[in-house]
Amino acid sequence: KVYRASTTAPVNIAVVKYWGKRDAKLNLPTNSSLSVTLSQADLRTLTTASCSASYTEGDSLMLNGELSDISGARTQACFRELRARRAALEAANSAFPKLSAMPLKLVSENNFPTAAGLASSAAGFAALVQAIANLYELADSPAQLSLVARQGSGSACRSLFGGYVAWRMGEKADGSDSVADLVAPASHWPNMKALILVVSAAKKGVSSSSGMQQTVATSGLFQQRITQIVPANMKTMEEAIKDKDFATFAEVTMRDSNSFHACCADTYPPIFYMNDVSRAAIRAVESINAEAGKTIAAYTFDAGPNCVVYYLQEDESAVLGAFTGVLTGVSGWKEGSAGAKSSVKL
Ligand code: DP6
Repeated sequence: KVYRASTTAPVNIAVVKYWGKRDAKLNLPTNSSLSVTLSQADLRTLTTASCSASYTEGDSLMLNGELSDISGARTQACFRELRARRAALEAANSAFPKLSAMPLKLVSENNFPTAAGLASSAAGFAALVQAIANLYELADSPAQLSLVARQGSGSACRSLFGGYVAWRMGEKADGSDSVADLVAPASHWPNMKALILVVSAAKKGVSSSSGMQQTVATSGLFQQRITQIVPANMKTMEEAIKDKDFATFAEVTMRDSNSFHACCADTYPPIFYMNDVSRAAIRAVESINAEAGKTIAAYTFDAGPNCVVYYLQEDESAVLGAFTGVLTGVSGWKEGSAGAKSSVKL
């Protein structure tokens, strides 16, 4: 007999960035972060988890049709945590089949071109954890599962909810309070949209994991970021989302992205994720806002040159029109939203 369950998980793009670990083993962050979840119609990972006593080959993961390496400590931590939770259920009820002892087979697919170079570890680990939790019929809430997904990839803990999600850094050494929660569902601010400018599909030069470790070790600016800038940005951002105050949401988004990339530049040796096209995108957003006479667009960049622009549905033509005219070197773009329609042009 084969037991099977499937799920999907969305991509999230942080507006207050996670950058820095205080414990690399448990994957505990130096600061809280907050993200907007993109529509699953646009960007999501679909994962099917199955297990069977008849599987002879041990645990495996197929990602976009290719066998993936699961020997890493992070993936193993997720498997171990979920198995322990299932084993506890089995111990409490002898009628439950012993799924925790069976090999796991995971099959995972993204609905966006891998060539788009978009962050997929968040959706990937979130889908992996949720699929196994479904297979094991765990009663854990998204917040409880975020503790597991966090160990796979920090940003993954924010992909279990949808909408506007905060990852609270927590204080405890064991990480039990480093958990994600829902700030507001997507329906709270349904006209929020995201435009993803694909500047480069190439794999990033410095991975986020190693980049953030270098920043923690060498950047002086970073101390100010985690003690002052991020706490203030978290507070202002949560209020802006609750009030649906786009101008404030946008300013904090852009300032936080700038602060994160300033810390990268202050890392020794420096790390550069943005390139000339990224900087042209920043200038384009500034001219869109200047033209509009108010802030209608906000840029943000993760650990790579691709630009995500947040804007409201009602300003779509002003924002998209300006971008198509201004940018050269952008290989494509993708409109998404926190909830609704989308179109892909890649
Ligand atoms: C710049 O979640 O990829 O996208 O925990 O080491 O897997 P690991 O890092 P990861 O880092 C994401 C960094 C970021 C900002 C963010 O998503 O908050």
